[in-house]
Amino acid sequence: MAAGRSWAVDSLRGLSIKRAGALSTKFWILSLASVFAVALLLIGHSHLPSLSYLTNHPPHPGSPPPPPPPPPPSSTPPPYGPKDPPVPGELKIWDPPEMEALVHGVLAGEGIKRKPSYPLNPFPPSPMTTPPPDDGRQRPWLGSVICSAFDIERRMLIRYTWMKLFKDVPMDQRFVISNPGPEWMPVIQQENRTFGDLIVLDHLSEDDFTANTIKTVEYYRWLAEKSPRKYQFVSKMDTDLFLNARAMYDRKLRPRMAPRNSSTDELVATVNHTLVGQFYYDSYHKTSFPHGAIYTVTWDIVELLPKLQDEFHVVAGEDLTMAWLLMKARQKVTFVHMNESEKFEFDPKDMRPGERTPWARKDTDLTSSWHALYGEDVIAVHQLKKDEDWLMVAGVFDENGIRPMPPFPEEPPADEGEKPGYSRPLYHSIPDNYWEFDHDGTWLCNGVWKLEPGIGRDMKKNETAQ
Ligand SMILES: *[C@@H]1O[C@H](CO)[C@@H](O)[C@H](O)[C@H]1NC(C)=O
Ligand SMILES: *[C@@H]1O[C@H](CO)[C@@H](O)[C@H](O)[C@H]1NC(C)=O
Ligand SMILES: *[C@@H]1O[C@H](CO)[C@@H](O)[C@H](O)[C@H]1NC(C)=O
Ligand SMILES: *[C@@H]1O[C@H](CO)[C@@H](O)[C@H](O)[C@H]1NC(C)=O
Ligand SMILES: *[C@@H]1O[C@H](CO)[C@@H](O)[C@H](O)[C@H]1NC(C)=O
Repeated sequence: MAAGRSWAVDSLRGLSIKRAGALSTKFWILSLASVFAVALLLIGHSHLPSLSYLTNHPPHPGSPPPPPPPPPPSSTPPPYGPKDPPVPGELKIWDPPEMEALVHGVLAGEGIKRKPSYPLNPFPPSPMTTPPPDDGRQRPWLGSVICSAFDIERRMLIRYTWMKLFKDVPMDQRFVISNPGPEWMPVIQQENRTFGDLIVLDHLSEDDFTANTIKTVEYYRWLAEKSPRKYQFVSKMDTDLFLNARAMYDRKLRPRMAPRNSSTDELVATVNHTLVGQFYYDSYHKTSFPHGAIYTVTWDIVELLPKLQDEFHVVAGEDLTMAWLLMKARQKVTFVHMNESEKFEFDPKDMRPGERTPWARKDTDLTSSWHALYGEDVIAVHQLKKDEDWLMVAGVFDENGIRPMPPFPEEPPADEGEKPGYSRPLYHSIPDNYWEFDHDGTWLCNGVWKLEPGIGRDMKKNETAQ
């Protein structure tokens, strides 16, 4: 039962970081043979130089993306709720459910016992050989991609698509990797000497369990203790997420900043304890939290979470960890929701029939968490595991954001069997008793997530509340 549910969690979280354990000779022979076969097939079709020969696993497999999540289970509600019977006039008290977290099918207690398969030698400082001159521009936003050290190919794809396209957006761009180990060290050093955009978390080994549990909080710790700069907002995102950084900055971040005072144009956040992300509910772990594909936090959260981790030692999926730490510490965080037209899982089945474009059919359902691209609201597109999907999506953006959607009509569907599923966002299935009004009249979920004034449980502006 647990395994069945964890499948849904797996496919939704979009595991992008592959295990890089020791590999047998047999694996190498098989990989080389299949890489050769694939290379022969692809000759003449490939436009980008492939760096897969540098990585120790085959390039992104051609398997289709995971299917849309199943509808929420209609079985009996979980026997879990606030700690004590609620006292009238007081907020409910929530503790995390008493259970061991499951991380991509591995029990947290088992996973944490795993030992690194190579020595964690300190990464020698490897600054850029020819750093660009300081342009003096302020960059209040740090956009960071949590990445496997071994996934050089994906980093190149990201550098040469959205990162390059949106270089005028006032953000610093970084990749966050764990200790690459002695064999990879020289290559990764050389990479940083060329691009200067790597943050290396020396004390972590590069494996999928670490990446999906403690890496984000340990990254925040690095920022709080070692970052040469302090940022107003820090985004964390996965490698299979394409970011329209222009729209993210203009619509979600810039409105939450203002000049520090009248004699400077330095922008500072006008909010604290705030997170921008997609509201999500995991019925297996009975907790609501921001979907891990992308979320953005104010600097005070970056400083807070490592402190809470030192106190409470939570090991769970990285996005769930944040919720459980905040619950244990009785901390509230304002949740700014990115809705389903803004951040969604890319569903190729929703593409216009007969076209090789990422645009959605005209009868698409933008209230679903899975669809193709539609209209001007698009900020973040997730599940772009295949390079060709990534390039197709990147192709409809320019430095101003998403290009105008080409007009319909589309061809009639060639195959009636390939209909998209349009599954519902999972926060629709949050149990009623998770919700209450905070003292100031805003909605509060799980005792942690505070919606902005006027936003309803459906994440829309609540007109009746005005
Ligand atoms: C990567 O290069 C940047 C820019 O020179 C530098 O600030 C940073 O410390 C380097 N990172 C590592 C891990 O050496
Ligand atoms: C405005 O902020 C800057 C930077 O913090 C500070 O140096 C300056 O004194 C401030 N000016 C006023 C008028 O408060
Ligand atoms: C946010 O918190 C920091 C640190 O406590 C404080 O300096 C800043 O003024 C706060 N900003 C807002 C908008 O409350
Ligand atoms: C999401 O928000 C945008 C901007 O406020 C709005 O135009 C769009 O209709 C919303 N989409 C959904 C599915 O609620
Ligand atoms: C909208 O606000 C009213 C009054 O505050 C509240 O009773 C109602 O439940 C809210 N609707 C939603 C969808 O949150």
